[in-house]
Amino acid sequence: MEDKKLRLFSAVQPSGIPTIANYIGAIKNWVTLQDEYECIYSIADLHTLTVKQVPAELRQRTLELLALYLACGVDPEKSVMFVQSHVPQHAELTWILNTMTYPGELSRMTQYKDKSKKHAENVNMGLMDYPVLMAADILLYNAAVVPVGKDQKQHLEIARDLAVRFNNRYSPTFTVPEGFIPKMGANIMSLQDPEHKMSKSDANENAFISMNDDRDTIIRKFKRAVTDSENLIAFDENRKGISNLLTIYCVFSGKTAGQAEAEFKGVGYGDFKLAVGETVANTICPIAERKKQYLADRDYLDKIIIEGKEKASYMAQKMLAKVYKKVGLYTPERKK
Ligand code: TRP
Repeated sequence: MEDKKLRLFSAVQPSGIPTIANYIGAIKNWVTLQDEYECIYSIADLHTLTVKQVPAELRQRTLELLALYLACGVDPEKSVMFVQSHVPQHAELTWILNTMTYPGELSRMTQYKDKSKKHAENVNMGLMDYPVLMAADILLYNAAVVPVGKDQKQHLEIARDLAVRFNNRYSPTFTVPEGFIPKMGANIMSLQDPEHKMSKSDANENAFISMNDDRDTIIRKFKRAVTDSENLIAFDENRKGISNLLTIYCVFSGKTAGQAEAEFKGVGYGDFKLAVGETVANTICPIAERKKQYLADRDYLDKIIIEGKEKASYMAQKMLAKVYKKVGLYTPERKK
């Protein structure tokens, strides 16, 4: 008998060109998880609206993100890929969950506080409600496993709390999801200020490697990466710059921390940075090339998201109907 695979859900926002931090924290693992789990990968465009967007750019980035998923190796034969706004049940379940969420739970979220500061001119209800929409994404599909970067851990906790709260108030309905946070590489830091996370919205372009960067750009950015003056290539909590570069090297080369340290024993920082840059470029550049090819075939991309929408909708409709019934919303019986 074939074991039923566990369901897995994850998403990325189409809010800019993803960096290698997004790749390592999310999409890279998605590919390897495809065989073990029944995977659903979404493009979280509704989340993106919590920050002001240029509409035409948002539309374009939605397609770019889908092309990137494909280029990285997410396989439409194995996994469902769809756009969040194509399945209205996400917004509908968010409303139900909103009625069981307390403002205090949301206002103390680190990401909410950070983004409220950063976008002080537009602190909207959506920004605050972001984790509830994310909980709806996950719970709608009964996902058991949710691979996310470390920065999303708090949001995942809310999803778990809401699942338990709903199950206790009504009856067992939602699977309580487990986070899946990669052991290495969950925290990729800025190349210019290794005390802070690598971010695609950093004003300093040298701080991040975008998944669109070409080989020369990648190598140049690594050459400029901030290190220290100790001339020692080893993991050390107090030397964030070197540790970050080593982490990136390990993740992209598949080597362990020990192997990398041994390899660079006695090597100068210049040569080390070049090796990191080349290793990253060897992975990223072919992905960027494949992404371009996918982007040129709009019909194919549309076909995939229409099929994804159909598959996701089927699951989401069933779940939402169950939820509506449990909370007491009346639905007339269909007379045949
Ligand atoms: N908030 C996530 C991020 O920015 C993206 C996301 C939206 C997500 N919905 C999700 C991730 C559901 C996991 C599960 O990284």
